[in-house]
Amino acid sequence: MSDHHLAQASALICGVRAGRGTAPIVESFFDEATNTASYVIHDPATRSAVIIDSVLDFDVASGRISRKSADKIISYVKTEGLTVGWVLETHAHADHLSAAPYLKAELGGQLAIGREIIHVQNVFGKIFNAGTEFARDGSEFDRLFDDGDHFMVGDMQAMALHVPGHTPADLAYVIGDAVFTGDTLFMPDYGTARADFPGGDSRQLFRSIRRLLSLPPETRLFLCHDYKAVGREQFVWETTVGAQRSSNVQVHEGVLEDDFVAMRNARDATLSMPKLIIPSIQVNMRGGHLPDPESNGARFLKIPLDAL
Ligand SMILES: [Fe+2]
Repeated sequence: MSDHHLAQASALICGVRAGRGTAPIVESFFDEATNTASYVIHDPATRSAVIIDSVLDFDVASGRISRKSADKIISYVKTEGLTVGWVLETHAHADHLSAAPYLKAELGGQLAIGREIIHVQNVFGKIFNAGTEFARDGSEFDRLFDDGDHFMVGDMQAMALHVPGHTPADLAYVIGDAVFTGDTLFMPDYGTARADFPGGDSRQLFRSIRRLLSLPPETRLFLCHDYKAVGREQFVWETTVGAQRSSNVQVHEGVLEDDFVAMRNARDATLSMPKLIIPSIQVNMRGGHLPDPESNGARFLKIPLDAL
């Protein structure tokens, strides 16, 4: 992890806030079934857009897929007259299926994720005993971002920050003065993401979070999930670096790394697996593509026994 990249991200955010660069328009789409916030972010000057962390609706009891959530995004993009340049994932999600290939087919754009997805593909390729048709080289994606990689959204500058811990491949995306944190931080009253999936690491998560919290305090943070902390009535998924630093219940300023690691590991040991982890990972490790059809033309997802 390079602090040089973090300094570049801070400079980008400060520049936009000082009027040297465009602030993005952010529209969020919250899926209550999976507690996931998806985002469409656009440059008001060029109407160029990015989609982050889309959801494909999946009913596990019936095995039925639907596209209501993704269709809301498509209708917003069309109504606003946006051109989609990127369809981004912050990581291979374990709680919902990605609609990225569907959105890419309908709206265009390049599909991207962090380079460490190759590691995730290897781990889960083994767990699901995927065949040789699953390449495990990231080739399902159009671009694999490294820490500090820059890209453009119309005239707006954007960059990827590698924030591993929840999974080895997690990225946060800095777009103008907004940061899309993926599964690192949740709202200050709720805390942080778990770090106990295969390849997860609570110590790495702490360091990634500290890195995000060294961005300017007024930086807008857009989270991937909200679970409504006890006592809160509304779902909320936007906060700031300053609010996280002063009041995140698990990782506010002053919390020591070893104490965080002990807390996170103890808490993770009490959590059950997310309801959709088995279907989600099989689809998301393939960039959101469903497994190939079998000889009868139907597609199947596997349930590995005693593996997770
Ligand atoms: Fe996640």
